[in-house]
Amino acid sequence: MKTDNTSLHLEKTVPQAEDFLPILGTDYVELYVGNAKQAAHYYQAAWGFQPVAYAGLETGVKDRVSYVLQQDKIRLVLTSPLQSGGDINRHIDAHGDGVKVVALWVDDATKSYEETTKRGAESYMKPKTIEDEQGKVVLSGIHTYGETVHIFVERKDYKGVFMPGFKPWSPAYKPEAAGLKYIDHMVGNVGWNEMNKWCEFYAKVMGFAQLISFDDKDISTEYTALMSKVMSNGNGRIKFPINEPAEGRKKSQIEEYIDFYNGAGVQHIAVATDNIIETVTQLRNRGVEFLKVPKTYYETILDRVGEIDEDLEPLKELDILIDRDDEGYLLQIFTKPILDRPTMFFEIIQRKGAQSFGKGNFKALFEAIEREQELRGTL
Ligand SMILES: [Fe+2]
Repeated sequence: MKTDNTSLHLEKTVPQAEDFLPILGTDYVELYVGNAKQAAHYYQAAWGFQPVAYAGLETGVKDRVSYVLQQDKIRLVLTSPLQSGGDINRHIDAHGDGVKVVALWVDDATKSYEETTKRGAESYMKPKTIEDEQGKVVLSGIHTYGETVHIFVERKDYKGVFMPGFKPWSPAYKPEAAGLKYIDHMVGNVGWNEMNKWCEFYAKVMGFAQLISFDDKDISTEYTALMSKVMSNGNGRIKFPINEPAEGRKKSQIEEYIDFYNGAGVQHIAVATDNIIETVTQLRNRGVEFLKVPKTYYETILDRVGEIDEDLEPLKELDILIDRDDEGYLLQIFTKPILDRPTMFFEIIQRKGAQSFGKGNFKALFEAIEREQELRGTL
């Protein structure tokens, strides 16, 4: 079914979902970090993000500094406070560096705010218009799990590099991109028995539908367990898996996250590439660390997933995981936590038909994660 309710043609791929917003895509992800200047350098040097925009003292912002970086459709905003006290410092004190805003690109930010708040969303920011000589952007926002928020961004009348208040940022240092294309999905970790509550939130407040669920029988090892459900908007551009810990013999990785993040938050951002072997080779060479997979994983892998286009050897060399569903297969790999606290990490994913999330890899992955937890003494 084609819906032509915006300037873009949005195909409805998840028929159960109600697209009353509708969401055109992820607009940006904002992290509150202790040192945005150095974090920006990390995302440039290690990940190949390109410098786009800057806001801070030089642009008339007194209390914070923000760097905007982009790689294809993935836009990151890194924000640090410039003074003591205030919400950003408190956020960093509680959570360490982490995702504060998952911004969603919409056609009408005022309507998105009205539709979601009337369905029960808690307001974070009433609709407001910001303007400069490049045009105007309308923003509004609602709360989601933990201290994370969604900001709706309406930018159809804006021609600047990011939004009013920012100036173009073009340092001499511009490392090559690493082939990252777009955000495939973003996963939230929530507390014990909170998964259904947050899945209902996305269903009721945002009109999302549930794609898949995994229970602790699917995702458990001797020690760790979790439950997960995947919520999607109608056009399939926004997919939010929600995890909760489940009872295992030892502490689950979700519980470890909740302990170190001090509550619910974004666990991982999965970014898509067209060539995972090339992307991961580049990222590794630039210092990104990935989870190791037991080499025995590859001994039986082709029996499980059947024929694939790639040679197995480079996949094994790089610790890339493979999974198959009814529609095709996928290649994926997970980084180690990218922060000192064992909280957030990235996933690199290349889909070759498969629309699922690598369920068959969970066990192999968890065994790998547990080896890391053991080293930290938190298993
Ligand atoms: Fe994932």
